[in-house]
Amino acid sequence: MARALTLWSLGSLLGHVVSASNTTNSTFDYDVLQYIDPLIGTANGGDVFPGATLPNGMAKAVADTNSGSNQGGFTLDGSPITGFSSMHDSGTGGDPSLGNFALFPYTSCVNDTIDGCTYPKLSRPVAFDNTSLVATPGYFAVTLGTGIKVDMTTAQHTSLFRFQFPTTDSPESPLILMDLTDLSNSRQDNATIDVDESSGRMTGSGRFLPSFGSGDYTSYFCADFQSASSIRDNGIFVNSRATSEAKSLRISRSINGYPLPGGAWIRFNASTNSSVIARVGISLISENQACSNAEKEIPSFDFNSTYSAAVSIWREKLSPIRVSRSAVNESFLTNFYSGIYRTMIQPQDYTGENPLWESSEPYFDSLYCIWDLFRSQMPFMTLIDPATVTRVIRSLIDTQKHLGWLPDCRMSLCKGYTQGGSNADNIIADAYVKGLLDDIDWDAAYAAVQKDAEVEPYDWSNEGRGGLASWKSLNYIPVQDLDYVGFGTMTRSISRTLEYSYNDFAISQIARGMNKTADAEKYKQNSAFWQNLFKPDQTSYYTNGTDTGFVGFFQPKYLNQTWGYQDPLMCSNIDTSGSICSLQNDAAETFESSIWEYQFFVPHDMASLITLLGGPSTFVKRLDYLHDEQITYIGNEPAFLTVFQYHYAGRPGKSASRAHYYIPGYFQVSPDGLPGNDDSGTMGAFVAMSMMGLFPNPAQNVYFIIPPFLESVQYKSPLTNRTSTIKTVNFDADYKNIYIQSATLNGQPYTKNWIDHSFFTDGMELVLTLGRNESTWGTRDADLPPSVSTQSTSGLEQRSAGSGLVHPYNVVF
Ligand SMILES: *[C@@H]1O[C@H](CO)[C@@H](O)[C@H](O)[C@H]1NC(C)=O
Ligand SMILES: *[C@@H]1O[C@H](CO)[C@@H](O)[C@H](O)[C@H]1NC(C)=O
Ligand SMILES: *[C@@H]1O[C@H](CO)[C@@H](O)[C@H](O)[C@H]1NC(C)=O
Ligand SMILES: *[C@@H]1O[C@H](CO)[C@@H](O)[C@H](O)[C@H]1NC(C)=O
Ligand SMILES: *[C@@H]1O[C@H](CO)[C@@H](O)[C@H](O)[C@H]1NC(C)=O
Ligand SMILES: *[C@@H]1O[C@H](CO)[C@@H](O)[C@H](O)[C@H]1NC(C)=O
Ligand SMILES: *[C@@H]1O[C@H](CO)[C@@H](O)[C@H](O)[C@H]1NC(C)=O
Ligand SMILES: *[C@@H]1O[C@H](CO)[C@@H](O)[C@H](O)[C@H]1NC(C)=O
Ligand SMILES: *[C@@H]1O[C@H](CO)[C@@H](O)[C@H](O)[C@H]1NC(C)=O
Ligand SMILES: *[C@@H]1O[C@H](CO)[C@@H](O)[C@H](O)[C@H]1NC(C)=O
Ligand SMILES: *[C@@H]1O[C@H](CO)[C@@H](O)[C@H](O)[C@H]1NC(C)=O
Ligand SMILES: *[C@@H]1O[C@H](CO)[C@@H](O)[C@H](O)[C@H]1NC(C)=O
Repeated sequence: MARALTLWSLGSLLGHVVSASNTTNSTFDYDVLQYIDPLIGTANGGDVFPGATLPNGMAKAVADTNSGSNQGGFTLDGSPITGFSSMHDSGTGGDPSLGNFALFPYTSCVNDTIDGCTYPKLSRPVAFDNTSLVATPGYFAVTLGTGIKVDMTTAQHTSLFRFQFPTTDSPESPLILMDLTDLSNSRQDNATIDVDESSGRMTGSGRFLPSFGSGDYTSYFCADFQSASSIRDNGIFVNSRATSEAKSLRISRSINGYPLPGGAWIRFNASTNSSVIARVGISLISENQACSNAEKEIPSFDFNSTYSAAVSIWREKLSPIRVSRSAVNESFLTNFYSGIYRTMIQPQDYTGENPLWESSEPYFDSLYCIWDLFRSQMPFMTLIDPATVTRVIRSLIDTQKHLGWLPDCRMSLCKGYTQGGSNADNIIADAYVKGLLDDIDWDAAYAAVQKDAEVEPYDWSNEGRGGLASWKSLNYIPVQDLDYVGFGTMTRSISRTLEYSYNDFAISQIARGMNKTADAEKYKQNSAFWQNLFKPDQTSYYTNGTDTGFVGFFQPKYLNQTWGYQDPLMCSNIDTSGSICSLQNDAAETFESSIWEYQFFVPHDMASLITLLGGPSTFVKRLDYLHDEQITYIGNEPAFLTVFQYHYAGRPGKSASRAHYYIPGYFQVSPDGLPGNDDSGTMGAFVAMSMMGLFPNPAQNVYFIIPPFLESVQYKSPLTNRTSTIKTVNFDADYKNIYIQSATLNGQPYTKNWIDHSFFTDGMELVLTLGRNESTWGTRDADLPPSVSTQSTSGLEQRSAGSGLVHPYNVVF
């Protein structure tokens, strides 16, 4: 045993790492980490993981609580702490994810006997001091009610936990246990743990269940302990009893539905002032790999250098985007940068840790779920970390190659449940139209997305699409479909029809770019199938008999082509009748949302939709009604695009005003500040891109322009190294001037209310002059974002010269 570290002062530690680089002084040169609050979303169902991790890191160390909403491990809702574990997901719904292998410390055991410590997770929770919490990228600290201070940092597959025991009058002999548990108590039979008597090293493994998917996974750990105090004894525990006689345990799940508590413990010689560092390596391959990960990544238990390496990595990852700090309330900066930070927690890079197949390709997991990610997180990552997006896409392609289909959701080495369409198609198309061409096998990518469109999997609950025979013959997904090719929950016929239409549009864009002209035309035609479920005379009444006043909605349609019926308000935010709206067998024809909300999900052909819904002014009234009557809720992802779709009706000012209605109203800088699950960092990306003033229409080369919530935004492309800026004139921090009066792009007047990705890659300058009232800027037909049905070359040729990239997306339909 080497000597323990003796540094516990976070202040000096932060001071040490914060002053890293200061070469230039400008508006955009400041340390961004001060504006990141990882605790946002740790209460009220945000389910955010607030602990220590690297960008896309596999090791995610935090204190776990026993909250009913502990999907991300830690919560700040008054729930006490049950342990300190090293694997987590962030922002997810479903069951709590991961949380494997928890450590728990005691300053001493009652009567100095090992049975005087409490082992089962159910019995040991301990409250903590709120004021002791410190959460910052790469670091998390908390002091337990027992006086033990625990702080932690991580490398890619290794966590470092420091346990500082309170100083005592008479020497005490601290004990640390390692519990073979996970957050959702899903441990299966035959978990094992061994403790080495002389070194105290603990190794073990267990098989667990994924939180929103099929199958199971096995994870492994390797824990070493370093302290100034020498080891007194060690052993194993089962349920509430411990022994030093046994050093190995293989344990049953037991028959009571709750895994029997079991694990190992280590005790240190008495001291009045002891501290222990636990280094926990993790792996999905083997115990040996868990140990070698730990030995390689943190050879000398050096907390300082592990933490400062993490800080450097975070700084570098966060470097492409900086905003001016002048004239804004600091909470807006925190909202903005914390949202950005959350987009980088997952997907998780498990490259080298995938036991499922042999490959030299990257492997990413915790794509949780793509139904969410495609809407904002992946488009945002394409800006801030395109290299990682490229690797994620290679991983998706490799996953398809080995498992047959692209996932719509994936966690813990398992297939996650598909919520709607085959939305990996959207992610892949988004990368394609934004020019991430290098290092991706686009032939393989195209084959993968085309398979989604053409070949139905046996089990389409977990991948691909269902009902493809009906899709191809009837050109919609029928309610109560007949499907004997593949099997899945026969619901969501409306939302699946809409999503499959958009997925096919996504595919058509890749096909067009790859000169697969016939395919491009075919999938473009399929992308109009949403129209087949539009019932022009459908009305919408409240249950009290009041007419919403709008006519023409999507409706379910049977195999025999006659209409079914679903109340357009069913499963909306104001439906309090207890409707079943998720993946249940008897759920609605729209997933997690209403026909009212899904009526706007035609992201590729808003021009046709607006015509069907009665023209631009009726459309704007409908969109207002959706928001004003709270039919939509911004806490679920289908709401995102509806904030900006006013752009298609020539009312970009209303999009700006809606964005300000939701941010910060529904996205606050506080633990309970998120309106729903962050869904990886999907909510974070919504905040970041809305506040930047350029919001993506995902899977299209389109960003809607609104005024940024900040005086100016600077972006340096990691691909071209060119710097783009968005500047405002007449910015005011009270957000009264939120209407664009005029704009210039590289000094030339710019009237379109959208811009394409070359803005980001080519180093452009967009200057927005703001005022208090809506203007005519961006309102003419020629100013609107493209729609597939009306698109000509207009909108695509206005682009500055001199690009660092080939633009494959000069796609004309
Ligand atoms: C850790 O960093 C702090 C701050 O720079 C320094 O004072 C301390 O000596 C370092 N500790 C070790 C063990 O290197
Ligand atoms: C950066 O440099 C400026 C000018 O020399 C100085 O005032 C400021 O304190 C420095 N900032 C940091 C974080 O070192
Ligand atoms: C840094 O830049 C700001 C804004 O331009 C300026 O006000 C300040 O004086 C500069 N500070 C130094 C130390 O150059
Ligand atoms: C700590 O904060 C949480 C969340 O705000 C609250 O529920 C709890 O009561 C607080 N605990 C203490 C001791 O103040
Ligand atoms: C501790 O010792 C006291 C006195 O001998 C005894 O009553 C008590 O049961 C012991 N507690 C434990 C947990 O061993
Ligand atoms: C657990 O181990 C026992 C004994 O080796 C074996 O009989 C049993 O099949 C194992 N259970 C599982 C689920 O592998
Ligand atoms: C630690 O405790 C063990 C067991 O009681 C004892 O054999 C050993 O001498 C102690 N070591 C020290 C350094 O006190
Ligand atoms: C605790 O121990 C460390 C050395 O391990 C020492 O620096 C520190 O002063 C001690 N604190 C007290 C209160 O004894
Ligand atoms: C598609 O065709 C155009 C025009 O012939 C050509 O310039 C381009 O390189 C082709 N692209 C691909 C991916 O083959
Ligand atoms: C019916 O409910 C809607 C929505 O809550 C409300 O706006 C309307 O005033 C109600 N109508 C009557 C007659 O109560
Ligand atoms: C079509 O099928 C539905 C559902 O089975 C049925 O209710 C309806 O009567 C059928 N319509 C016709 C015209 O056969
Ligand atoms: C961008 O800058 C980095 C670091 O200086 C350099 O490695 C890279 O080659 C540059 N890329 C381009 C396209 O200039």
